[in-house]
Amino acid sequence: MRADQNNEFMKSFDIAVIGGDGTGPEVTREAIKVLEAAAKKFSLKLNFTPYDLGGERYLRTKEALPDSVVEDLRQFRAIFLGAIGHPDVKPGILEKGILLRLRFELEQYINLRPVRLYDERFCPLKDKGPGEIDFVVVRENNEGLYTGSGGFVFKGTPHEIAVQESINTRRGVERCLRYAFEFARKRNQEKKNPEWFDVIVTDNMFGDIITDLGAMIQGGMGIAAGGNINPAGTSMFEPIGGSAPKYTGQGVINPLAAICAGGMMLDHLGETEAAKAIENAVIKVTREKVKSLAAGKMGYSTSQVGDLVAAAV
Ligand code: IPM
Ligand code: MN
Repeated sequence: MRADQNNEFMKSFDIAVIGGDGTGPEVTREAIKVLEAAAKKFSLKLNFTPYDLGGERYLRTKEALPDSVVEDLRQFRAIFLGAIGHPDVKPGILEKGILLRLRFELEQYINLRPVRLYDERFCPLKDKGPGEIDFVVVRENNEGLYTGSGGFVFKGTPHEIAVQESINTRRGVERCLRYAFEFARKRNQEKKNPEWFDVIVTDNMFGDIITDLGAMIQGGMGIAAGGNINPAGTSMFEPIGGSAPKYTGQGVINPLAAICAGGMMLDHLGETEAAKAIENAVIKVTREKVKSLAAGKMGYSTSQVGDLVAAAV
């Protein structure tokens, strides 16, 4: 918190922004539009610092993520990330070199992924509505199969075997379980039984799989958001879908997932009311405006959806 130039006390937050690849920058623009609208309404000051990371930079410099940038990013409370993944870069390089490296080096050991259906029109399950589909996955984000542990035996022979080991340490599991436990206690005071599970805590790979499935029952990748949380450090918020290269620059991609990630970021920063205002605006726009949550079928362009949500905030 600090005073702004007018000497009024305004809460101020420094946020790093990585638009990244493909449609990442487009959806990031809309998320920032909505964040600015919320900031204005709730008298917050958001200072955005853009970072040029992603496939284009990698192709130009042969470096995915310089050490100095990691050190820079540590200075922020939060990072907003659009998407990582470029068709001209071999799969894995950018994902490991940027996304996973940041999750690991910034010790974002929780990946928080809410699965909430805002309108029953968008659920593929028969007779399921917002009352049934509302849970949060707490995915361990630093261990499991993602540690890169493993190797080969008989490499280069017809009997070659690849082994990948899922390493989960006592420390890693315990801190994740404790986070999930506290989260479940805070979240569901009424102890209702929303289709059995309200909070699911799981390892890194199963968390990845389960939240892909979760995204489908909440209406698809166009609406699914997540936060990579370090409770004591720098956290990073992102739409969970990829960079969708085939839609790049057409103004058809759904920015709601990125907008929801922006809302989660404000919630994490302690701005609960502003976060709620964003979520309520998203609910209003999904219920009253958009025809579909899929790219190109919304009935509006990417920036029009951003405008609608910003106006509803
Ligand atoms: C995700 C993604 C990543 C993951 C990939 C890109 C490494 O699928 O954020 O869910 O597996 O965590
Ligand atoms: Mn995934």
